[in-house]
Amino acid sequence: MPQDIYDKIMMLAKRRGFIYPSFEIYGGVAGFYDYGPLGSQLKLNIENLWRKFYLLKDNCIEIITPTITLHEVLKASGHVDEFTDFTVDCKKCKQSYKVEDVIDDDIGIEAALKENKVKCPNCGTNLKDAYPVNLMFSTKIGIGSARDAFLRPETAQGIFTDFHLLYRYAREKLPFGVVQIGEGYRNEVSPRQGIIRLREFSMAEAEIFFDPKDKTHPNFGSIKNKELYLFDNEKEIKLSIEKAVKTKVINNQALAYYMYLTQDFLMTAGIDPKKFRFRKHAPDELAHYATECWDAEIFSERFGWIECVGIADRSAYDLRSHIDSSGTDMYALRKYDNPKTVEVKKIVPNMGKLGPLFKGEVGMIKTLLENMEVKDTKKISVNLDGKTIKIPNECYKITETKEKVAGEKFVPHVIEPSYGIDRILYCLIEHNYHEGKKKEEEYRMLKFNPIIAPIKIGVLPLISDERLIKIANEIDRNLRDAGITTYYDESGSIGRRYARMDEVGTPFCITIDHDTLKNNTVTIRNRDTTKQIRIKIDEITSYLASKVN
Ligand code: GLY
Repeated sequence: MPQDIYDKIMMLAKRRGFIYPSFEIYGGVAGFYDYGPLGSQLKLNIENLWRKFYLLKDNCIEIITPTITLHEVLKASGHVDEFTDFTVDCKKCKQSYKVEDVIDDDIGIEAALKENKVKCPNCGTNLKDAYPVNLMFSTKIGIGSARDAFLRPETAQGIFTDFHLLYRYAREKLPFGVVQIGEGYRNEVSPRQGIIRLREFSMAEAEIFFDPKDKTHPNFGSIKNKELYLFDNEKEIKLSIEKAVKTKVINNQALAYYMYLTQDFLMTAGIDPKKFRFRKHAPDELAHYATECWDAEIFSERFGWIECVGIADRSAYDLRSHIDSSGTDMYALRKYDNPKTVEVKKIVPNMGKLGPLFKGEVGMIKTLLENMEVKDTKKISVNLDGKTIKIPNECYKITETKEKVAGEKFVPHVIEPSYGIDRILYCLIEHNYHEGKKKEEEYRMLKFNPIIAPIKIGVLPLISDERLIKIANEIDRNLRDAGITTYYDESGSIGRRYARMDEVGTPFCITIDHDTLKNNTVTIRNRDTTKQIRIKIDEITSYLASKVN
């Protein structure tokens, strides 16, 4: 079979230390890859560029939370019940498939399976009886009275469960954004798309909290005339951001702003603008928590259009669920100009009655009751671990007091840009991969933007002369001391050494030659133009720092 671009890239990636199949000595397993020395650096550079957009441009704050997540959190978030894929098993060869991988989108699933229209891609047997499978990896925390938990399917929940603390940190002002970069896990039924469908993958997620009455963004004015690349499921259109919001193609400014930030980040990183678009989710595609979602899709020659970023309006879904399930006050306050006096109804639990009825759960129920907003004084119920529990009237008293309140409480809404870093990394390699022949020799080149290139500078003494090597080592040390990643190489012809650097995407090479000994200058070769300039040794660091940072 002829190699396509994916095969070529994965061979280069393995040979040059970008990406290795995990556990290969034991046969490997689908959905897991390791990053080698250059892959790790490339990934870090992509993540740090992302941080520049979210922490510096957009003023978000970053947190780190555990990847192992309590059952209660993911029950409240809806993942225990809703985070499923429809699956079908082959009775003969025992292979399992995600239904959407074996059925054409346009056919009704039930009908297709009933009418024997779906064959096992492996052995040709008719496939029957699809059923939902939860995609989370489950685990236990502790032994003995262990608690149920999962490897997190998204980093977002760690942010939501800290919302009340972060709101205080943000001086109780909206909007504010919190980001997290880390691993997410999905036990995919049968991943067949290599590095594009991983079971353990890196997510970069931002949760931006808004007052639902004001989904605007303070920087909207500065970007409103820029264009977004949109796809309306039939054709691609370019639309100014302002027009997209005015005509309700995109529902609010906040969503449109983060779509632009995403486009800007991806273009800066080196995604080909001709292979990029935003596609809106149809209502039946939306995740259980989303009211609107746009996917940033990137085109790959092997995989077609790939979803690399999802930008969702999650409304108040998650915070509301965590308030209801944990009883924690996760409201924000819309301040009045002057405090108002209002009647407040509070529940006072009767522990003598509650205790015998609810035993081990009584502590949790007491907290939920005390923090509840009382709407109907006759019917009180709490949500515990996904169950609605009615509280008998004799178990509580309602008191009414007058209180001075500073403002109106509300549950913030969330706009969430969620990035799949591994997919973006693969697409960056694919879009920047070039190959051809130079003087009858095959060459491959990765034209990475210097900002993401894993090695910024190759340091190459022209020949193996002690005097040149000494200067080269000093230059190499000075660049490293300035925080610039280098690769020192003195072996092989200079042409081969340039080719080795081109192949891993190094944007500049410094060559130390005989003229260096005469006039303290070196050549700097530009990967993309192959042009060389001569500069003084003591100007190298400042010249290159401005090019690679
Ligand atoms: N947090 C977005 C997602 O899980 O896809």
